[in-house]
Amino acid sequence: MDIIALAYIGLESTNLDEWSRYAPEVLGMQVRPHDGDALLLRMDERHHRIAIRPGEAERLSYVGWELRDRPAFEDALRILDAEGLSYTVGDEELCAERGVHAVAYLDGPDRIRHELFYGQAFASHSFVPGRAHSGFVAGEGGFGHVVLTVPEWSDELNHFVEDVLGFRWFGSGGDVGKRRFYRPKRNFRTHAIGYSIVPGVAGLQHVGIEVENLDDVGVAYDLVQERGYPLMATLGRHTQDPVISFYSFTPSGFPLEYIQGGIEDSEAHPFVEGKPERLSVWGHKFNPDAPKPATMYALESQDAPT
Ligand SMILES: [Fe+2]
Repeated sequence: MDIIALAYIGLESTNLDEWSRYAPEVLGMQVRPHDGDALLLRMDERHHRIAIRPGEAERLSYVGWELRDRPAFEDALRILDAEGLSYTVGDEELCAERGVHAVAYLDGPDRIRHELFYGQAFASHSFVPGRAHSGFVAGEGGFGHVVLTVPEWSDELNHFVEDVLGFRWFGSGGDVGKRRFYRPKRNFRTHAIGYSIVPGVAGLQHVGIEVENLDDVGVAYDLVQERGYPLMATLGRHTQDPVISFYSFTPSGFPLEYIQGGIEDSEAHPFVEGKPERLSVWGHKFNPDAPKPATMYALESQDAPT
């Protein structure tokens, strides 16, 4: 199917009050005023990029994949039908909540709800950052990336990601057999979704967002430390995807990677899959005291969502 981008995600959190300060003041996102109980966060002219709803746990509720237009959306549903995968077409209320023309959703073998949609509402030149900020890299490239933990890489999951969603392989970040990164075929980002394979564990491992200006990474790096959000990894530059980034914990207890300097993995800039010997050129020193991400759970535990 012709997915073009990871356009939005939905989270459930016990900590909306803190999110409502952290997202604009630390990350530079815009809070969208509205009547519902969700906290809607904007990063560009789109309706929203992250929706956080009050709940009893910290978890990723869904990921939203953008189809280019109505015919691409209808093609996507035909592919699900041909695969024998059951899905639900969203009603008017759900479309209004997401701010889209049409949406359908299904649970993936990765234990995450995948939403397929087209036509996300936008308002040109309407983005006002929550703090002085030079803007996010989003638009048609989507909002960033998510990395999910899965207990194993099954044939079913491989088929879902590579054949049903039709994603293009990017690499394994130097951790062959333990990590897998993918992107929609026509997306300029190197990856929009990644999988970290940890036996017995599932859930959200981290979220990555990208900014235009390196100084905004520096400002955010100062702010998370001043406000006491623990680092998972210090500022550094990755090897396979040579961005500068740091990882710190959000009010939901998962690490957020704050990134600048993404390269484009496109036909014009074909990315050769090397085998990096290290995760990073410099930095990304892991904090030995970092907590386990609250959005990851042991499948055997009582906390595992049903
Ligand atoms: Fe990342």
